[in-house]
Amino acid sequence: MPVAVAAPLLVYFSSVSGNTARFIEKLGLPARRIPLHMGPHTAEPPLHVDEPFVLVTPTYGGGQGRGVEKGSVPKQVIKFLNDEDNRRWIRGVISAGNTNFGQAYCLAGEVISRKCNVPHLYRLELFGTPEDVARVGDGLEKWWKLQ
Ligand SMILES: Cc1cc2nc3c(=O)[nH]c(=O)nc-3n(C[C@H](O)[C@H](O)[C@H](O)COP(=O)(O)O)c2cc1C
Repeated sequence: MPVAVAAPLLVYFSSVSGNTARFIEKLGLPARRIPLHMGPHTAEPPLHVDEPFVLVTPTYGGGQGRGVEKGSVPKQVIKFLNDEDNRRWIRGVISAGNTNFGQAYCLAGEVISRKCNVPHLYRLELFGTPEDVARVGDGLEKWWKLQ
């Protein structure tokens, strides 16, 4: 019988500001990063995943008056999820953002949750507080056992 894994793989995106990468580092769980640079002029190969994962993504777009949700999911994350071989493994989403953005706070998680039909498990600001780290770590483990 396969050994039960304590927590799901995390797949995350983080821009040059690196907040989400810091949060992932603090969590200390197995994680794979969606490359920042896309397209033919980059050495970074696209990420392919073939096991269940929880996506951790920051929100961008800032509710730029194009309809708040437009542009809230980073294009790198869209590209990753547009690959059906990746998308079939998503089991939940955790979003990061900044409450300064008001109504657009953590919208990327809302959009992905709805489009991929998975739960929006948690929202956090910037790189997360120690409490966020503890709650996400414990929460993921408990939730994963129920899956
Ligand atoms: C140009 C820009 C637009 C942003 N738009 C939003 C937004 O619409 N909603 C939100 O909650 N956070 C928004 N943020 C905040 C980021 O989600 C937050 O800083 C996050 O921690 C960035 O993660 P990263 O450093 O891993 O890329 C925005 C940040 C920038 C720089």
